[in-house]
Order: sequence, then structure tokens, then C-alpha cells
Amino acid sequence: MEGTAASPLAAARPLVDTFQRRITYLRLSVTDRCDLRCSYCMPEKMKFLPRAEVLSLEELHRLSLAFIARGVRRIRLTGGEPLVRSDMIDLVRALGREVGYGLDELTLTTNGTRLADHADALAAAGIVRVNVSLDTRDPALFEQLTRRNQLSQVLDGIAAAQAAGLKVKLNTVALKGLNEGELPDLIAWAHGQGHDVTLIETMPLGEVDGDRIDHYLPLGEVKARLDARWTLSPSNHRTGGPARYFDVAETGGRLGLITPLSNNFCEGCNRLRVTATGQLYPCLGGGEQVDLRAALRSADPEFRLEAALDEAMRIKPEKHHFRIDTRGAAPAQPRHMSMTGG
Ligand code: 5AD
Ligand code: SF4
Repeated sequence: MEGTAASPLAAARPLVDTFQRRITYLRLSVTDRCDLRCSYCMPEKMKFLPRAEVLSLEELHRLSLAFIARGVRRIRLTGGEPLVRSDMIDLVRALGREVGYGLDELTLTTNGTRLADHADALAAAGIVRVNVSLDTRDPALFEQLTRRNQLSQVLDGIAAAQAAGLKVKLNTVALKGLNEGELPDLIAWAHGQGHDVTLIETMPLGEVDGDRIDHYLPLGEVKARLDARWTLSPSNHRTGGPARYFDVAETGGRLGLITPLSNNFCEGCNRLRVTATGQLYPCLGGGEQVDLRAALRSADPEFRLEAALDEAMRIKPEKHHFRIDTRGAAPAQPRHMSMTGG
């Protein structure tokens, strides 16, 4: 439904930052909670937020409409794990009604553990694509990486999503000495099933047990090895995110690379992120922040929200300053990916 009319307000007051980047993509986290404990994402004893701090379904809906009115055309619902939130499907249904009326696309990032239960409802509510996180198809390594024994649920979830007519893309964090050797087989398997794959470098977000540098794998290295095995040609495909895509001649599939550390992509950034508590972060790698929950819960939410979005445009930084080359260094940002979502 690309190209449907945007709302009149969007034309009048689009979200454009001080570097003339137009914001059209919102990543909205609906919960910081997760049923997995991926070791590069969070510590074993992760502390989650009290539920009262998290936005209600109505607040999430109202926020989303405010963004759509200012020209946001894609919304990705994320977490934590969005499907652990019990009213999640109601939000998907409510936002699904906006598709074609200012919103071009509603998507979901999930770890897949509960996807089998929800795939049909998600498809019926207007979701067309889901990103499923899958770092390995080896049950022992899956358990080591996620600290949970749930690989079969995830694989069932992926199959159910496909059966429900959802387009599935896999997100795979490339990890030195862990899934490194398995990546070609994982990609070949995914392409054989009809799923695109995007590889991601580990990002220094939030404290974890151990040091991420031990498993940091620059994707340039991975690509060189894949080039030796397959014919990769750059593709014009875009999904609104930061991935660069390649067509793989031998598998007929598409491979995305997200390289925040080895190759900065901030110039074309079109995104904002909002946490489940309504904190807007204009940059995944920056400390800048705007409190949308305070605006929503104020006496004049409409005015305060507009002002907060204008503020976000003023403070969105030119680029992130991730580094992962110093052993024992503090993460670039203290908040985990499970706060701001993927
Ligand atoms: N660095 C890179 N990717 C991460 N993810 C979670 N934490 C990190 C991190 N620190 C990934 C998940 C998922 C996506 C949403 O983000 O594995 O695929
Ligand atoms: Fe959960 Fe995703 Fe973090 Fe893994 S990476 S613990 S699935 S939020």
C-alpha cells in the first residue's frame, strides 16, 4: 500500500531533524520483558521494570497516532519480546486499521518463542512481515546463547508464521567463536525456506555478564568468507532500516548486513525509538532523550506531545559513537537493547 495519502498534518509539519533527515520510521517497544536471556543482550539476572511504569495499550495507541499524524509511515513493534505482553494483539489490531491511511507498514520484531500461538492473529490484524531473531539452529548452542531451551518453539514459530502468510526475515547476531562457523549453513537453510537473513554486529548496549569484545565479529570478515563460497551482488532492496543487502546467486536469497561498528550508517537515518515507558531516544547509540510519557499524562497532552516531537528533532544527533575495541570499557549506552528494541 506504498504511496497512500499521508495525513494533512504530516504535510504541514513533517518530522525533519537539524541534519535535514526526514523521520518516517518509528520503532516502538511495548515491553522491556523477555522470556529469553541472550548473553550478548542482557545479564542472567536481568531486572525488568515495574509494570506501572510501562505505557498502557491506550497510551501506546495514542502515541502511535501522533507519530503517524507527523508523517511516520512505518511502525515496528518490538520489545524485549513483544509477544509476552498479553494485550499486544489488541494494539496490533488497532494499528493495523491505520495501514493505508498514513501508515504504509506495520511490522514486528520477535524472538519467535510464542509466534506459533499468534501468527494467524498477527496476519489477520494487518502485519505483513515479521523479523525473527535466530542466532543458531544448534539446540545446545541456542541454550548456551539464550540461557533457555526453546529452539524448537522458535522453529515452530517461524514455520507457523510462514504458514499464516507472513513474510519472515531472520535477524542473526554474528558471534566470534560461537555461531561463526554455522553462518553459511544457517543462511543456506533460511534461503531454502524462502526467508531473507540479516546479520548484525554486537553493539555495546547495557552491561552483560562477560565482555562483548570476546565475541565481536566484524561483518567484513564474514562477508569475505561468504564471497569465497558464493556470488554476492549488491542489491537495491531497502526495508527502511540500516541494512545493506546482497543477492546470493547460488541460494536465490537475500542477505542483509548491519554494521554499526565497522561501517557507520547514520547519514540516512530515518528512525526514532520509543521505549515501553515512553522515553523517546532519537539515536540508539546516543544518550539524548525526550519524555513522551510525561507529555501523555500531562493536562494538555496534545500540545505537549507535539512540543516533545519538535524537541526530538532538535536534539537528534548526527551519528552514534559506538566503539567496541577497548577491553573492559563501559558500554556506549547503559540501556540494553531490550529497552529500545531492535
Ligand atoms: N547488539 C546487537 N544486536 C543485539 N540484539 C540484542 N542485543 C543486541 C546487541 N547488544 C539483537 C537481537 C535481535 C535484534 C532485535 O537485536 O538478537 O535479533
Ligand atoms: Fe530477549 Fe531479544 Fe534480548 Fe534475546 S536479544 S534476550 S530475545 S530481547
